[in-house]
Amino acid sequence: MQRKVDFLVIGSGMAGLIYALKVADSGKVLILSKTTIDDTATSYAQGGIAAVMYSPDNYEKHIRDTIKAGAGLNDEEIVRITVTESTGRIKELIEWGTHFDKEKSGKYSLAKEGGHSENRILHHKDNTGYEIQKTLSHKIKNHPNIQVLENYFSIDLITQHHLGEKVNRHRKDIECYGVYALNRDTGDIETILSKITLLATGGLGNVYQTTTNPIFATGDGVAMAYRAKAHLENLEFIQFHPTSLYNPGEKPSFLITEALRGAGAILKNRKGEPFMKKYDDRLELAPRDIVARAIDNELKLSGEDYVYLDARHISANELLNHFPTIYAKCLSIGIDITKDMIPVVPAAHYSCGGVKTDQNGRTSIKNLYASGEVACTGLHGANRLASNSLLESAVFSHRAAIDSKENVKNVRHAINVPDWNAEGTIMNEELILITQSKKEVQSIMSNYVGIVRSDLRLKRALTRLEIIYKETEDLYNKSVLTQAICELRNLINVAYLIIRFAQQRKKSIGLHYNIDHPPGV
Ligand code: FAD
Ligand code: SIN
Repeated sequence: MQRKVDFLVIGSGMAGLIYALKVADSGKVLILSKTTIDDTATSYAQGGIAAVMYSPDNYEKHIRDTIKAGAGLNDEEIVRITVTESTGRIKELIEWGTHFDKEKSGKYSLAKEGGHSENRILHHKDNTGYEIQKTLSHKIKNHPNIQVLENYFSIDLITQHHLGEKVNRHRKDIECYGVYALNRDTGDIETILSKITLLATGGLGNVYQTTTNPIFATGDGVAMAYRAKAHLENLEFIQFHPTSLYNPGEKPSFLITEALRGAGAILKNRKGEPFMKKYDDRLELAPRDIVARAIDNELKLSGEDYVYLDARHISANELLNHFPTIYAKCLSIGIDITKDMIPVVPAAHYSCGGVKTDQNGRTSIKNLYASGEVACTGLHGANRLASNSLLESAVFSHRAAIDSKENVKNVRHAINVPDWNAEGTIMNEELILITQSKKEVQSIMSNYVGIVRSDLRLKRALTRLEIIYKETEDLYNKSVLTQAICELRNLINVAYLIIRFAQQRKKSIGLHYNIDHPPGV
């Protein structure tokens, strides 16, 4: 089956939905979601969205904090664009119906998180992302020009390669014509042709054993873009959130928002001693790379599985009003956060790198844009400042939409695009082979390419991964296509990229910490 649309949006999180709403007056929009429209990392976001709202905060301070957290590896122009456009994008979210918490005075209540020199996090209790997702998806569902296809798994971007041409990474005129997508309900593979395509597929946390990311976050967008020969950047910078709830077996790991540390919660070792003063003057509110490494070190010293986050001294009123989701979740496993300390561990949380984009969300592939976590705009540098991710999606989906609406006027649908080639795929793969390989990839990445790396660990990771890569390619070429085998393949692609990017960076900086290349040497 073939479909034709003007704008194809792969992903229904904040990045995809904002873009869709903004281009919909210029053509027919189709959104693909791997599961359901609201099953996104956006929906999980707790802390909030950073933006400059009132003095004494100002744009320069937010710019400075972002660059300091990013260890100066940020693209300063992009940081400036993001921060100076933050207020406008927030106003728009509010006009669309998003509620952020207010103080009695009527002013927005602004929380503080690691690396921020001012209180600047707009939030809706501790479920800000869900509030934003709900608002956007309501608008989407009522839009006559937008169609959403749930349970559609995007397999590969269509480029000249699928028309039989040779496409290598040096070719400058690669174009995107749409995607091949698997309808998960029927098993059919559809050809979806688009004039403009937006990649908004979110993160890749499931390349690690422990992650806060939803199950679907298998790096599909990065892997598809890599296979299509797009430029990628900064994939070595994987952000581990310092405080996910220690609850073995739970997937994804439940996040304990940094805003709880912003409200005064203290990290303690199993003996109940605070330890952050050994690591950074900013204590619990140092940037995430520093706090996650500090916890990692404490765990290595003590041999324990977790440290504690102590919120008992915060008033019960504050805990129940600002953090009701965390309160209820912890209570459901027998932890009353007003009386008990919370066991926490770092978990893979965010990919600072991704598909390289310019100021208008354009990738190196013609008519392919990217926004949200899958993209690398240059905002985050070597480490993302807390709550800058939702903001980045809002700013760059807006910019990408404006650019796309001009661009689409000059684009025609590709012709003679063949349907998916399923030749030679005769066997139904054994699921056990796939689940086992996935576990092996996650274990390689967690053991050798985690918070602390070394040259030997990276080399070992690559050698181990190569075996699984070869086995999986062989299986993929023979098997009837399923989401499970595609996801495994994507995870392997992404793991390979993270390792290679990490090997190429010869100095520890931000989130990339290699004991053989200490910082500053
Ligand atoms: P998502 O919201 O993840 O959406 C991705 C979409 O892509 C989904 O619809 C999915 O179905 C679709 N998709 C993926 N692959 C395919 C495929 N192959 N085919 C079809 N569809 C596909 N950031 C902040 O700024 N503030 C916070 O407070 C905050 N808290 C967070 C808390 C948690 C627990 C997590 C996990 C993240 C948090 N983040 C936060 C990060 C932030 O939520 C994400 O980076 C951001 O929401 C990503 O938005 P997105 O639109 O790029 O992707
Ligand atoms: C959190 O609430 O701690 C997550 C914020 C973020 O990832 O930016």
